[in-house]
Parts: sequence; C-alpha cells; structure tokens
Amino acid sequence: MRRMSGKDDNVVVRGLRGVAVGESGISYPDPNGTLHYVGYNIDDLIDRTVYEEVAYLLIHKKLPKMQELDKFRTEIVTEMKLPDPILESIKNAPLTCLPMDVLRTEVSHLGEYDPDHKIFSEPANIRRAVRLIAQVPAIVATLYRSRREEPVPAPKKEFDLPQNFLYMLKGSFPEDSAVKVMHRLMTLHIDHGFNASTFAARVTASTNSDMYSAVTSAIGTLKGPLHGGASEKVMEMLDEIYFEDKLEEYIQGLLDDKKKIMGFGHRVYKTQDPRTKHLRGIVENFCYSFGTSYLYEKCKKIEKIVYDRKKIYPNVDFYAAVALYSLGISKEFFPLFFASSRIVGWVAHILEQYGDAVLLRPSQKYVGELGRVFVPIGQR
Ligand code: CMC
Repeated sequence: MRRMSGKDDNVVVRGLRGVAVGESGISYPDPNGTLHYVGYNIDDLIDRTVYEEVAYLLIHKKLPKMQELDKFRTEIVTEMKLPDPILESIKNAPLTCLPMDVLRTEVSHLGEYDPDHKIFSEPANIRRAVRLIAQVPAIVATLYRSRREEPVPAPKKEFDLPQNFLYMLKGSFPEDSAVKVMHRLMTLHIDHGFNASTFAARVTASTNSDMYSAVTSAIGTLKGPLHGGASEKVMEMLDEIYFEDKLEEYIQGLLDDKKKIMGFGHRVYKTQDPRTKHLRGIVENFCYSFGTSYLYEKCKKIEKIVYDRKKIYPNVDFYAAVALYSLGISKEFFPLFFASSRIVGWVAHILEQYGDAVLLRPSQKYVGELGRVFVPIGQR
C-alpha cells in the first residue's frame, strides 16, 4: 500500500475561502463593508424602493418603470395562489417535521404542478422564477397558519407581496408600520453574492437541472445554523439570557468555551456588515411600538461585549431575529422568512447560471490509499 500523492497535486482551499468560482452581475458584498444590488448601493435603495422593485432589478438587471412594476406586482400576487395538492400536503405534514423541511419538500412538490412542464426556454424560466418568488412566501404563510390550526386567508389583489405575506401569516390586515418593516427586511435579505445556499442552487442549475431542483438544494443549504438557521439560534440565545445582569457572564462563558456567538462574524466582511445598521435602525425605531425594546437593549450590550473581546461584528441574522420577533413571527419560522426573500436571489442566480452554461464541478485532493489488495467477502 502506498499513500496517494502521484499526479494529485491539487491545492486545497479549505472552505473555498477567497475562491471565486464564477462571474456574477447580481450583487456585490464588498469586504470593505458595502453591499450593491446590480450596481446600486443598498444604502440608496432601502426606504426609497419597494421590495418588488428590487426583485425586478435582480431578475431583469434594471430598475422597473412604474408600469413595469405594476405588471410585475400583479403577476406575483396572482401567482401566490398555491395548487390544491400543495395546500393539502402542507396541512398533512407531520407536526414533528421542522417547518424548513416542509418548505424544502413543498418547493420540490411544486415542480410536479409546473404549468411550463418540460419547457426549458428563457421565458419559461422567467415565468418559473416569478412563480417561485410568489409561492415560497405563500407556502410559508400557509404552513404557519396550519401549524396554528387556523385558515390562511387568500392573497388580496390590492396588496403587494410583503403586505400579502404578512396578512396571510397573521390572518389580519397588517399595520402600515409593519408592512414598511417587511419591505425593508425582505430587501435586506434578497441576495448576497455566492453565499452557501446560492452556490448550492448554482451547482444544481449548472447540471442543467430544473429550477425547482436548484431551489430545493438551496433551501436544504440555508437550513443549517451556520447560514440561515442562525437567526433562530440568536432568538434562543436572547431567550436564554433571562436576567440582564447575567448577560455579560453568559456571553463571556460562550467565548471562553470557544463557542460561536450566533449572529456574529462573516466570511466576506472584515468590517461591519452593511445590512446591520439598517436592521439595527429598524429594531430601534419599531421596538418601542412592538414592546421589544428590552431585546434591543440586550442586543446592543451583546454587540459591545463581542466586539471588545473578539473584534467581530453582528451579521444580518442578529438584529433580523429581533425584527422578526417584533413582527410576531415565531422563531422556528425565521429561516423560512429568510428563504421567502432570498428566493429572488436564488432564481436570479439560477437564470444567470443557465446563461453561463458551465458545469460547476471542482476537483479534490485525494489523500486516501491506493493499491490495496482485494480480498473476496468469504475470505475477509
Ligand atoms: N462567535 C465567536 N467567534 C467567532 C464567530 C462567532 N460567531 N465567528 C467567527 N469567530 C471567530 C472564530 O472563532 C475565529 O477566531 P480565531 O481565529 O481566534 O480562531 C475567527 O473569528 C474566524 O472564524 P471562522 O469560523 O474561521 O470564519 P468563517 O469565515 O469560516 O465563518 C461564519 C463565518 C459566518 C460561519 C462564522 O462567523 C459563524 O459561524 N458565525 C455564527 C453563525 C452565523 O451567525 N451565521 C450567519 C452567517 S451571515 C448570514 C448568512 O449567510 O446566512
């Protein structure tokens, strides 16, 4: 037996850190602390655009004119109605099943009812993209209501997507202030370069597999606590720190044990995550009316302790957790909220990947053995 080296002299870049695996014109998280959607700094978009406007930008690579936006919004809201078998399946999902698992399954299931079945043209893929942008939040809202044994209201034509999403989640007409928060939150989560779930979607799309399969891969990847599952863990941590005078001890204890503080750190940003200031602002402005200012105060203290000790900053998941909690969304649904907005980024990247037409297939560095002598099963 010999240890493998041979021709396999590939250099391993652990975790693909710093490796560019493709070109993209969708979003640019600049490590120096800015984020751009198709060339626009998010600081110029937040509060000055609505969510669907930015979704249109990501799909069509230009901001819509008013008529284009109206048409796009109408298409989306029309597509929020789910096929009956999907509604049934959501209602019948076992209660033991994690909500994220139901979402993953139902997106895959949607592929069976695709009206463009077997048509793989660009217009058909854009129609699929619009359907998924509408149907992912509709699945999430239906599941949310069904877990509470409450009926989900039908989407309203006169509402936009974030408004309908909140209306369907809560079962009552949302306040304007809550809708405004939804637009901002969804815009801040819409896309973020080649993050893990987007990369997973692109790998699947690169095999020329269909869009439902690629989004299913993305949801499975988003689920993990190092990615979209982090905001739920942030809320668990905030719940565990019951007494504020124990906060410092709790955080220092985690750091002493070399545990990760959820909602902190980022692979790309070496400075503040550019989304944090907007999220912190949302929480700061709205927590008083939502009665969650005590959580905002806890967060600010945690942010300071972690920075003083580790020099790392909160990421998108930290304040987003409090914003979602303030909207009355329960924590096991936080990753599903993330998916309901990131679906736009996923489909935009899948469309871009189809255009690139290259199989994403990395190599490895083989470190196993070679030349082992085979022994038949009866003689081992
Ligand atoms: N808490 C404590 N220390 C941390 C944290 C954290 N959350 N994140 C990074 N560090 C430290 C880490 O211990 C290491 O320190 P040292 O050099 O002393 O060993 C250093 O920072 C580099 O960390 P890393 O894990 O090598 O960095 P990475 O780029 O591989 O990981 C990350 C990035 C996001 C996976 C990581 O920061 C993490 O696990 N954070 C907690 C989970 C989380 O909040 N995830 C959401 C990510 S942002 C939204 C998204 O994309 O979903």
